[in-house]
Amino acid sequence: MELFARSEKTRVVEEIGGVARLGELVRELGGRRVLLVTDPGIVAAGHVERGEAALRAAGLVVERFADVHENPTTADVARGLAVARDFGPDLLVGFGGGSPIDVAKGVNFRVSCGGEMSDYRGRATATASLLPLVAVPTTAGTGTEVQSFALIADAATHQKMACGDPSAAPKIALLDAELTLTLPPFVTACTGLDAIGHAVESAVTKPRTTVSAHYARAAFEVLAANFPRVVDVPTDLAARAGMLRGAALAGLAIEHSMLGAAHSLANPLTVRHALPHGQAVGTMLPYVVRFNATLEPATRQTYAALARSGGFADAHAPDEQATEALATVLIRFLRLAGLPVDLKPLGLDERALRALAGEAAEQWTAQFNPTPVDPSAFERLLNSAS
Ligand SMILES: [Fe+2]
Repeated sequence: MELFARSEKTRVVEEIGGVARLGELVRELGGRRVLLVTDPGIVAAGHVERGEAALRAAGLVVERFADVHENPTTADVARGLAVARDFGPDLLVGFGGGSPIDVAKGVNFRVSCGGEMSDYRGRATATASLLPLVAVPTTAGTGTEVQSFALIADAATHQKMACGDPSAAPKIALLDAELTLTLPPFVTACTGLDAIGHAVESAVTKPRTTVSAHYARAAFEVLAANFPRVVDVPTDLAARAGMLRGAALAGLAIEHSMLGAAHSLANPLTVRHALPHGQAVGTMLPYVVRFNATLEPATRQTYAALARSGGFADAHAPDEQATEALATVLIRFLRLAGLPVDLKPLGLDERALRALAGEAAEQWTAQFNPTPVDPSAFERLLNSAS
């Protein structure tokens, strides 16, 4: 199987300095009036100007919507929609981390199909044809640049909604590692740990397939090889390119097989205790690996295969040993990034742990974990990390 299969909905273009070709790629899709969705940080870094210059050099008319916030809500989408209605784009560019790309998807649903964001919860929800979307990620993390889903929170309840349709996936994902050079070390580490979490979790979920297994393993290999380097030498463009490639591969693995318990735990840890998503995933992942491996031989085999393919366990090492090597390397990644390896710094008491466990069990990712996880299982997991 090719690294990025041609049958995927998104064409992945990997090129250092490739943002200069953004106009040419948009023209190939037939775009003439482009709404670029981004956030103030990406504008301040100077990346948006480069992207817009490339679009204008190709003779395109460009409008900018830069008012996207982190963990975007229906309010971000509504503001973007107002700009889109005034401007009348025939193509959208989502330019930035996961948030601008997801808001671009959200705007696309509403401007193309009308209605409210909540109308598009679930899969295959588009009621009219969507505008083509080009994604230009500036972080190596979420993988939304190759996915048909947008995560948008309800502005009133802050509940995250997964809004999706196969046609909502970007037509092109332009991976230009130069755009990730300006990421602060902490963001580089958190987004990298998130991507590693995507690879490891999607490898073992209940709905896993041979296709998702291909992407999860390829993602883990490239992410594990490049994470230590990108943390140590943030200016290393080859390592940055590796992380971008790995995040996109992991994004495709999720597209085919969803996520598991580490992501279920991460959401309440972020909401209740302000732990950044990637840090929360990275902290809980080794505990989830050990938990799942104890209960499920098939899962243990998959973890062991990941450890072997990443070069962290001998080809003949027993599955138990190779699985422990995987957990150990995941902990080493946290240490390399200077992050805590457990939840102790949060000082959680029994009541806080129980509340987290209850909320983790309600997350939609919990159902895909290879072993059943109910509130008491999540409480055991949280206790082991506290
Ligand atoms: Fe994630």
